[in-house]
Amino acid sequence: MFIAGGTSGINLGIAKAFASCGSVVGVVSRSEEKVAAAVGDLSNGSSQAFGVAVDVREEAALTDAVARFAEFAGGTINIAISGAAGNFLCPAKELSANGFKTVVDIDLLGSFNVAKAVYPHLERPGGVLLNISAPQAYAPTPNQVHACAAKAGVDQLSRVLALEWGPEGVRVNSIVPGAIANTEGLARLAKDPDDDSGGADSRVLSTIPLGRHGEVEDIAAMALFLSSDAASYVSGAVIPVDGGWGPSGPVPRRQSIA
Ligand code: HXC
Ligand code: NAP
Repeated sequence: MFIAGGTSGINLGIAKAFASCGSVVGVVSRSEEKVAAAVGDLSNGSSQAFGVAVDVREEAALTDAVARFAEFAGGTINIAISGAAGNFLCPAKELSANGFKTVVDIDLLGSFNVAKAVYPHLERPGGVLLNISAPQAYAPTPNQVHACAAKAGVDQLSRVLALEWGPEGVRVNSIVPGAIANTEGLARLAKDPDDDSGGADSRVLSTIPLGRHGEVEDIAAMALFLSSDAASYVSGAVIPVDGGWGPSGPVPRRQSIA
């Protein structure tokens, strides 16, 4: 199992879940230190994990790293996950073209690069590609025009690749995490720049129908399911794991509109 951006947060949690099921795991991200720490976390006595410091925007280096992982894993890749992402809050009128491009390049072009790099190595039939999306893909979210555009593109990538690669026996799906506790994403985005009351966490919580933040393990469980034979007829799907937010994302809960 290969996961881009697998060195922290949700993606590292997914990698750990696969490692604990006995998968040979490979990770890439930009930071040498984070890659080394993740490889340490993901290795156990009998099974060594694989890791290389690579930016998903660097197509040639990524392609090389994926080929090296395929060899490490015995010749093919059974499961590939694209989860590298960048985000920050910024109103569109203040966002530079390069700021917009940076998030699109990491999230969307990076996911395309991951898909292209893993494609020649995916098991056929039986290979699985999962893209880690976000509610911003369908819920218009102020101060995140870059991530909304990028993640909407990521979901269309999943749908189109499911059509193109399905006949070869490769399934492609998106997982959409909601607000996941103790993650960089939540730390960055739960903050309202105009609100210094310190109430960000409880404000987000108040929008979640199931009344709790998600855990990394909730997303890992969906990744395991979608990679298993139990999901052998699931492809081209965009699957929220978000505590019930649904298509409108984090809006205040109401008992009734009447
Ligand atoms: C405005 C900003 C900015 C900010 C960067 N830029 N941060 N603009 N407000 N806070 C602009 C810069 O000025 C620059 O434009 C351009 O973006 C590129 O900045 P760099 O710092 O050179 O980019 P880079 O080093 O590639 O870093 C990428 C990054 C960074 C996205 C900016 O934050 C990062 O590495 N993030 C990775 C971790 C992360 O974001 N994790 C959370 C994922 S959560 P100019 O014009 O000045 O050149 C997620 C969804 C969560 O994806 C959903 C929760 C519900
Ligand atoms: P995170 O810990 O910051 O994870 C992002 C990972 O991507 C890190 O391993 C980071 O490592 C890597 N990365 C970033 N830019 C990269 C690049 N250019 N090339 C290669 N690797 C790169 O954030 P997270 O909150 O757990 O988010 C993980 C995924 O879940 C993301 O796809 C995010 O959009 C999605 N998501 C998160 C939430 C949430 O509540 N946290 C909600 C919805 C969706 P390096 O810094 O070493 O590169």
